[in-house]
Amino acid sequence: MKTSRLGAILDLVPGDCGVVDIGTDHALLPIALVRRGQQGVIIGSDCRSGPLEAARSNLIESGCIDRVELHLGFGLEVVEGRSDVEAAVLAGFGGKNIVEILERSLPQARSLRLLILQPMRDGHHLRCWLADQEFCLIDEELVEEDGRIYEIIVVGQGSSNWDVDDLAEAMGAPRSLLVGLGPCLVKKRHPLLLSLLNGRKEEMMDVTENLQAKESERSRRRRQELSIQLGRLEKVIQWLSG
Ligand SMILES: C[S@@+](CC[C@H](N)C(=O)[O-])C[C@H]1O[C@@H](n2cnc3c(N)ncnc32)[C@H](O)[C@@H]1O
Repeated sequence: MKTSRLGAILDLVPGDCGVVDIGTDHALLPIALVRRGQQGVIIGSDCRSGPLEAARSNLIESGCIDRVELHLGFGLEVVEGRSDVEAAVLAGFGGKNIVEILERSLPQARSLRLLILQPMRDGHHLRCWLADQEFCLIDEELVEEDGRIYEIIVVGQGSSNWDVDDLAEAMGAPRSLLVGLGPCLVKKRHPLLLSLLNGRKEEMMDVTENLQAKESERSRRRRQELSIQLGRLEKVIQWLSG
């Protein structure tokens, strides 16, 4: 069964290239790739044998087993030295986890045409790392499923293009905030971005409220930090609402 999150990821994978789905779990993405007629090798990998066996069962049941390679291993290490894989999908991981996986196989990550990344949290951390590493930002998407908004980031090789200086100046917001929020999402005023940011604003306000009751110096400093961050986020929200 393909979900809207996986469907949005699928739409961002070119139909004509070899793909590895890292952390494939139940092989839902490889099955969807086979069904849409993907050209090129399809690999599902996982670092744990349990999920890989679940993937194998699902592939057999769906009649896709002959079309998908399964590998046990950590991150991109399973495709090291392979020239038939051009795109990697890392979906459903925390943003810091994705950074750890890419850092561990940086030459391999740099040899791929596309990395399609779907962090469950810490998208800001992931984007700042990708920008520091000078990956080329190709596209970003947001997709809603069961009331939650998911971020998808597509990067590749080539000249780095995380330039948000003009936007930052227009909004009066720091450059790093816009890099972390998603330059493509902001530039295309993605229809779900406002909901995502309003949700974050509410979360930050809840944390601030909980801190009101605490008297410690640490809580006071955290409240101050949050108030600055909220002010900056509000500027982006206002710009998007305008
Ligand atoms: C992070 S999720 C993602 C599942 C699926 N990709 C999705 O988007 O729904 C869980 C899977 O990733 C696997 N995993 C976690 N860390 C991994 C790593 N470093 N390399 C490969 N697989 C990993 C887990 O064993 C688990 O099956």
